[in-house]
Formats: sequence, structure tokens, C-alpha cells
Amino acid sequence: MIRPFSFSDLDSVLQIEGQSFPKSPYDWTTFLNLHALYPETFLVCINSHHEPKEEILGYIIFTQDGHIISIAVNPRHRRKGIGRELLKRAMKAPHFKKVWAEVRRSNQGAQAFYLKMGFQITGTVPDYYGNEDALVIQRTLDTIKQQD
Ligand SMILES: CC(C)(COP(=O)(O)OP(=O)(O)OC[C@H]1O[C@@H](n2cnc3c(N)ncnc32)[C@H](O)[C@@H]1OP(=O)(O)O)[C@@H](O)C(=O)NCCC(=O)NCCS
Repeated sequence: MIRPFSFSDLDSVLQIEGQSFPKSPYDWTTFLNLHALYPETFLVCINSHHEPKEEILGYIIFTQDGHIISIAVNPRHRRKGIGRELLKRAMKAPHFKKVWAEVRRSNQGAQAFYLKMGFQITGTVPDYYGNEDALVIQRTLDTIKQQD
């Protein structure tokens, strides 16, 4: 199940963040600011059957024009299609002309994920992460419409 982020999710999101982006994790103020900016497109995927409380499996944050700010899945739950479902939510927004993200050049897992989802590498931003380039990876509306 995918639903909007709520404040009670913050600890779990921070934990996934630290495991997913050890070089430059967002802190709690960044997440709260992102939630204030994008309350409808900061989404979490949950296991609602998990006891004693629901488990946060992953999250995605994207802007109103299709920029994926972040996507991450709990390492214990990767390769189960959770990232795919989260990204499809962004790709289904009807008014987007394209969906795009920046990915570290060294992040081959994420690049494989986006390419599998029909994205293409369209550019490079030198030193985007300080000492590492970003690859810009995107999918346009036409190819999104053809999907599903
Ligand atoms: C990238 C990420 C979100 C993918 O989430 P996920 O739930 O594991 O992805 P899915 O299970 O939906 O994968 C869908 C397909 O993408 C491809 N894929 C996903 N992760 C991959 C990897 N590490 N290596 C190669 N291919 C991969 C596969 O083809 C996969 O299908 P398959 O498992 O049937 O072969 C997750 O690995 C993650 O959180 N990484 C750390 C954070 C990060 O790098 N985020 C992206 C940068 S913003």
C-alpha cells in the first residue's frame, strides 16, 4: 500500500535513508521541509499487516513537475518490486511531460533500476555531489503513455 508520508513515519524513513545514502543522507529537517513543500508527493510504501505496527518499506519524493528528489527502499525489501511501484506513482501523474532524477555515477544499482523502468541517461552534471558527477536520467511523457 502506498500513502502520503506522515510525521510518525519519520524515524523509519530516516533509517532507510541512512542505509540507502550513507555518503550524504538527508537529515530530519530536510525531510520535514520536503514534506512541507510536497505533502501530496512525498509517499511511503507500507506493509500494513506488520505487527505490532505497520512497517515502512520505502519512500519516494517528487516535485509537481516530475523531478524525483529521492527514492529508497529498505535494503531488506529490495528486488521485490517496491521501487517499481513507487516510481510508477510518479510516472502516472497525468500532467507530467517527463520524469527525471539525478543518480551518482557510481550508483550502478539505481541506474539499472531506472533503465529497467524505461528511463534513459540524458546528461551529466559535473561534481553534483561535491566530488562525484551525477547522471541525469529521464523518461518522457510519450514513452510513459505507451507504458501499461
Ligand atoms: C534503486 C532502488 C530504489 C530500487 O528499489 P527496489 O524495490 O529494489 O527495485 P525493484 O524491485 O522495483 O526493481 C525493479 C527492477 O529494477 C532492476 N533493478 C533494481 N535494483 C537493481 C540492482 N541493484 N541491480 C540491477 N538491477 C536492479 C531489476 O531489473 C528489477 O527487476 P527484477 O528484480 O525483477 O530483476 C533501491 O535499490 C534503493 O533503495 N537503492 C538505494 C537508494 C538509491 O540509490 N536510490 C536511487 C537514487 S535517487
